Amino acid sequence: MKDAAPQTIFLADYTPFPWLIDAVSLEFHLSPDKTRVISKIVFRPNPASKGGEFFLHGEHVTLIWAKIDGATITPTVTDKGLTCAVPDGAFTWEAEVEIAPATNTALEGLYMSSGMYCTQCEAEGFRRITYYPDRPDVMAVFTVRVESALPVLLSNGDLVAQGDGFAQWHDPWPKPAYLFALVAGDLIATSDNFTTMEGRNVALNIWVRPGDEGKCAFGLEALKSAMAWDEQVYGCAYDLDIFNIVAVDDFNAGAMENKGLNIFNSALILASPATSTDRDFERIEAVIAHEYFHNWTGNRITCRDWFQLCLKEGLTVFRDQQFTGDMRGHAVKRIEDAILLRARQFREDNGPLAHPVRPESFVEINNFYTVTVYEKGAELIGMLKRLVGDDAYARALDLYFTRHDGDAATIEDWLAVFTEATGRDLTQFKRWYAQAGTPRVTVLDDFKDGTYTIHFEQKTNPTPGQDEKLPQVIPIAVGLLNPDGSEAVATRILEMTQDRQSFAFTGLDSRPIPSILRDFSAPVILERDTTMNERAFLLARDTDPFNRWDAGRELARAVLRGIVTAGTPAPRAYLDGLAAVLRDDSLDPAFRALVLSLPSEDDTAQALSEAGQTPDPLAIYHAHEALRVQIAQHLQDMLPRIYAQNQVGGPYSPDAVAAGKRALGNAVLAYLARLDGGMQAAQQYDSAANMTQQLAAFSCLLAIGKGVDQVQAFYDQWQDDRLVMDKWFALQIANAAPEVAVQTAKALTQHALFDWRNPNRFRSVFGALAGNAAGFHVASGAGYDLLADWLIRLDPANPQTAARMTAAFETWRRYGPDRQAGMRTALDRIRQTKGLSPDTGEMVARILG
Ligand code: TRP
Ligand code: ZN
Repeated sequence: MKDAAPQTIFLADYTPFPWLIDAVSLEFHLSPDKTRVISKIVFRPNPASKGGEFFLHGEHVTLIWAKIDGATITPTVTDKGLTCAVPDGAFTWEAEVEIAPATNTALEGLYMSSGMYCTQCEAEGFRRITYYPDRPDVMAVFTVRVESALPVLLSNGDLVAQGDGFAQWHDPWPKPAYLFALVAGDLIATSDNFTTMEGRNVALNIWVRPGDEGKCAFGLEALKSAMAWDEQVYGCAYDLDIFNIVAVDDFNAGAMENKGLNIFNSALILASPATSTDRDFERIEAVIAHEYFHNWTGNRITCRDWFQLCLKEGLTVFRDQQFTGDMRGHAVKRIEDAILLRARQFREDNGPLAHPVRPESFVEINNFYTVTVYEKGAELIGMLKRLVGDDAYARALDLYFTRHDGDAATIEDWLAVFTEATGRDLTQFKRWYAQAGTPRVTVLDDFKDGTYTIHFEQKTNPTPGQDEKLPQVIPIAVGLLNPDGSEAVATRILEMTQDRQSFAFTGLDSRPIPSILRDFSAPVILERDTTMNERAFLLARDTDPFNRWDAGRELARAVLRGIVTAGTPAPRAYLDGLAAVLRDDSLDPAFRALVLSLPSEDDTAQALSEAGQTPDPLAIYHAHEALRVQIAQHLQDMLPRIYAQNQVGGPYSPDAVAAGKRALGNAVLAYLARLDGGMQAAQQYDSAANMTQQLAAFSCLLAIGKGVDQVQAFYDQWQDDRLVMDKWFALQIANAAPEVAVQTAKALTQHALFDWRNPNRFRSVFGALAGNAAGFHVASGAGYDLLADWLIRLDPANPQTAARMTAAFETWRRYGPDRQAGMRTALDRIRQTKGLSPDTGEMVARILG
């Protein structure tokens, strides 16, 4: 065996696998250090292929024996897989391999977590279980026999036989290997059932380790809601008699949609009022729905190759966003999604890691499970829906489900059903999948003789490997308001297709105030030179909730820039605008909470760098803090009343109304803390009846440099709960003052409960450090050094998580020479580490450019 150099894979090189698989049967003899896997695979030539070498992927597996049609053979084995001569027609492959789940710290393939066996095969983890054509376009029916003394033995599909020390599962739906799953452990189920619209009775189980069974009720309710919603809205029903979910403590991502056996990071399934915040509940509901929705968008229709990842992820994110909107309100959900997209995807699109929604090449596919593929991918679906209309969207989706059921499909297939269902030529739209970078749309306008004209210009900056950008189709939702706030022209979608384009509105009495990009109708940056007064007017009067919120956000961004660059305090128009929204009890509390929240410090840094300035994270931190104090002082008369009005009594419920009130109460609490030194927050901490209230009070105290007693009290109360302790680690670092953040993080890495091999715990420390902009970018470079040290330590154990976290450095080009040098030194040090994984190697190379 020799080490092959990391290889770049290209979309253009796709060829089908030369064989099809009629059936797969797997037999597992589980043991921590010596698990044996016996496979039997029936191959036959693929008529769609011109033929080729018989190559099976296999990594970190030891071949014991192999047979073709019953005769022992000796394949040529490398560290990537094996080849051998095979008969011309159909044949049966059999092999036995040995693997060691107990020492598998990468958490890909079969591994152990808190005493249980579990798997993670997406994207290319199945090859760590046995030799197989581990690619999504090879679909097969699996039969799985699991042998172990553990009491609960699970795999995909239906349970067909069970006895002392074994269980046998059969999944009738052909699937790619990345959807394979196996779980074995001492687990307890919380169960329910659901009858589909087709009359199928489905047993639902959430499996957890003993002690966690009290945290499953919410997940089961969310699952049933998602199942009902997918039937009502998309006509998609579940297709097996059993649906299992398992909670796992050590997991590289959020959750995984394995057919009939979803596996979840325990942080995204276990929920209880005492240990989970409102945000956790909302996120858990959304992730359960997301994984469930994959059953049709991902499993029944899968991806031809990993370049098509957005085909399943963009669409499934879009579907879970629709679901959450229906469950909890569309306006607030849209704002939350826009905040995430701008904070993370625009940042990615604007830096060295920018890539198209459908990338054209990769070294390690795990590095492309990104906000661009997921969230921008979802925006593309939303734009398509806006452009063709709701009815046509529904027809196109029906066609997609009927035509491609059972297929491994492509973006071309996806767009073709829209063209067919609507007659629309989507050639230009397809650029959204190929072109990286966020389009900037600049707006000018004029008014003459009753005609109001908007002039748009679009421009996308170069991104790595793409110097020239072509104009994209941009649906721009526009409404016009009269100066008295009434609507002059209701929302309409303007379709921009050229570099420069103008749209006229005739027959107007007076110059209207435009409300542009309503509902965030496209993932673009809107640039418009306008007055504070006009933004304040929109904040007070816009009838589109997204743009109303966004007007406030644009004001805040301008104010923050003014404070950082010139020390100009916030103008009255802005503060009065905030006061008017806060005071207006007719507005949804959740919406008011969002209006009160400020852009992140990273957002201000990004804005300054786009304006050609060098951001100073410390100055930005102080500007944000100064603005918080100024807002608190301006609103001080009404804060106690709003706080009191938004306390929620009675038993805890995570519903949107109650959560919205708590969100507003806690947004107000953060301002009160700037006035009363944390008195109210300390009181709330002591009387908190749920984690939402406790955690909000805790972070208010930490943010103003208090909370020493609460750090100890929280620890004493929650030290035995891993998920709550993740919050304890994260909060102390996220809220640490800039000069002590690195020290705080460093001290916490020495804590007995800092288990760095657990991805949740690692992220709770280093995700929080990277998110504390002024702390991470402290002038000494200590933040960069600490993160680099730990990424170097994590990489050999868990390359996937290490690689993903290198993105903390993606903004290095924004900063001044000293910080740039500090980050480059850290990145160089990672790059030069002996034995660095291809995962992290690819990321560092891309970041350095
Ligand atoms: N397909 C999963 C989802 O979107 C994502 C996922 C789970 C994943 N585990 C992973 C991606 C491991 C990469 C590696 O829901
Ligand atoms: Zn997904």
